[in-house]
Amino acid sequence: MPAPFPPSVLAHSREGLIEVSAALAEAVDTALATRRPAGPIPAGTPADVLAAAADDLGPAELPAQGLGTKAALQKLTSVLVEHGIDLSHPKAAAHLQPPVLSVAVAADALASAGNASLDTYDSGPSAIAVERWLIRVLTGLAGFGERADGVLTPGGSLSNLLGVLLARDAAALSRGVNAREDGVAALSGPVVFCSELAHFSVHRACAALGLGESAVHPLPTDEHHRIRPEALRKALEELGPDRTPLAVIATAGTTDFGSIDPLPQIAEIAADHGIWMHVDAAYGFGTLFSDRLGSKLAGLELADSVTLDLHKIGWLPAATSVLLVSDTTAFTALDRKVAYLNPADDSEAGYDGLLGRSLQTTRRPDAVKAVATMMAHGRAGLGRMIDTCHDLARHAEQRIRREAELELVSPAELTTVVFRYRTADPALADSLNGALRRRLLESGSALIGRTEVRLDGPDAPESVCLKFTLLNPTATAEDIDGLIDTVLEAGRDCTGPTEEEAA
Ligand SMILES: Cc1ncc(COP(=O)(O)O)c(C=O)c1O
Repeated sequence: MPAPFPPSVLAHSREGLIEVSAALAEAVDTALATRRPAGPIPAGTPADVLAAAADDLGPAELPAQGLGTKAALQKLTSVLVEHGIDLSHPKAAAHLQPPVLSVAVAADALASAGNASLDTYDSGPSAIAVERWLIRVLTGLAGFGERADGVLTPGGSLSNLLGVLLARDAAALSRGVNAREDGVAALSGPVVFCSELAHFSVHRACAALGLGESAVHPLPTDEHHRIRPEALRKALEELGPDRTPLAVIATAGTTDFGSIDPLPQIAEIAADHGIWMHVDAAYGFGTLFSDRLGSKLAGLELADSVTLDLHKIGWLPAATSVLLVSDTTAFTALDRKVAYLNPADDSEAGYDGLLGRSLQTTRRPDAVKAVATMMAHGRAGLGRMIDTCHDLARHAEQRIRREAELELVSPAELTTVVFRYRTADPALADSLNGALRRRLLESGSALIGRTEVRLDGPDAPESVCLKFTLLNPTATAEDIDGLIDTVLEAGRDCTGPTEEEAA
């Protein structure tokens, strides 16, 4: 027999966790002091940056002999810091990808060290208790009643998929069809209504669930980027007898504008027509932490299911997404009896996990980082964070309004602001705004978003716009001014005279 491994190779040993934490702390300390790029993203073209990272990683072959824990952690830490993004940089404002809270990262490491799974009782009882605690807190925040339930998923896209799946199966069941057993053929002409600005994961969910992307019926939005409820009512009334309405999906926080569909009116129409109401609150749910912003989500409690992402407003590492349902019986569609996981006699004796709430089997305890964060910061702490980010977005909006070179496209509803850099020749605006953003990326000086918006009415073509997504609660108004100054400089550089003209 070869010599046994020492206990310290395993994280769930006292020696393992303590030694490896010390090695990581040292590696992070050195890398942050010496290898951090000046801006939020390394300067250079994507080819340069990726080649430099590959170079530092070394030959892509499994080393015959390991380097040891300390050296491996030092190497990876240095690669990740030197060639990665710094979301805590005040000029990082591109996506719904926040800088994360330190308590969450520590708790996530702890969760990884335990490697519990949520599917069965004997895979991790404490992890089950932690997830149930989180779900109770979130159903309470949503305004749901005693029958509510929920489950963590690997992202907002998958929470939306699960929401559409439950809606599909409920609609099938109400027509005497068991979609799980018999598929969806009996649901003739399925229709899922949503905003024309709904996240693309809704379309993907319909495709993946056998409904087809053509099942999606996009509804027009008003000047504030919200579904027009009368358009939903009309579309439902005009639906032919060969169509089966399955659900309406409202968005509480559209990705670009943060706009929130009129939830009470949509709920009323859904109830009148007996269809499922899902709310994609992946972005907007976090406003419920705030006394000032929480009322924007009035009507959420009327939904049948809700997507929420604590890896957006919640400042947690991805993924910490949740699907909530107003009635736990909705999960019946996912229930499974599996001989090696949850045999009936074990279940009857109380030895059950959460297999029946998820499409996954092994499921990591993502709730641990969420619960640690909620315990550490409380509702007031998280509320102050969202209020601060909202204030930063409003500050950006006001500054953009004052700058002659910039055009405000959409004000700060939550924490995003959409705008454009103006050009003398409108025909050049799209290419200039695209080039401006790439210039910032290549210089490494700022990380900002980009999207396309119909600026001149519903039938107009889409125009390239720029976007700030402000999720750093440690940033200041001066930081936002600095970010806008950097955008203005890049705009001037892109519109300045060519070398030939200047000569
Ligand atoms: C409104 C909305 N829904 C769903 C998603 C998908 O979330 P995820 O990226 O976690 O899959 C996003 C992502 O930005 C979003 O903005």
